[in-house]
Amino acid sequence: MKSKATKLTITTNLTVYKSMEDLPKEDLELLKLAKKAVKSAYAPYSQFFVGAAILLENGKISIGNNQENAAYPSGLCAERVAIFHASAKYPNIPIKKIAVSVASKTQIINEPVSPCGGCRQVISEYEMKYESPISIIMSGETGKIYVSDSIENLLPIMFNKKHLK
Ligand code: THU
Repeated sequence: MKSKATKLTITTNLTVYKSMEDLPKEDLELLKLAKKAVKSAYAPYSQFFVGAAILLENGKISIGNNQENAAYPSGLCAERVAIFHASAKYPNIPIKKIAVSVASKTQIINEPVSPCGGCRQVISEYEMKYESPISIIMSGETGKIYVSDSIENLLPIMFNKKHLK
């Protein structure tokens, strides 16, 4: 019997840079701050140290890093620490960009780290809130950098406030 279903193919768009030195200046500066934030991450359980830096529309910067807890689910990712801080301090200023970096004590990470599902959902909330795309700059300790112009590339068919009307 012929299927009545159709296929929906979703493509994603990322810009790939060979190394951080190839990034545009504003992105490079933000990534340097994310790398700095890695150094003060509190990750005694995973030894996976993540840093994030946010550039707001008014030029202000907010940083965050992962904060772990002996009760594991009580910890929080670097991206959410940074975004919630930004939103708490500058509640009406759109978020322009977030850069993320990582370091581990157990491995060398030469692939870009990308935000977890929960962080993608949180980033999407602020894109929707300000109706303004958030650029996401993803890096490992070394190697390539991925840049996404919007959370839509990382979270297609997202759930958002439109569904709650
Ligand atoms: N983590 C982040 O902070 N951001 C990510 O994008 C991925 C994961 C943290 C959560 C946890 O503290 C550790 O990395 C290992 O999952």
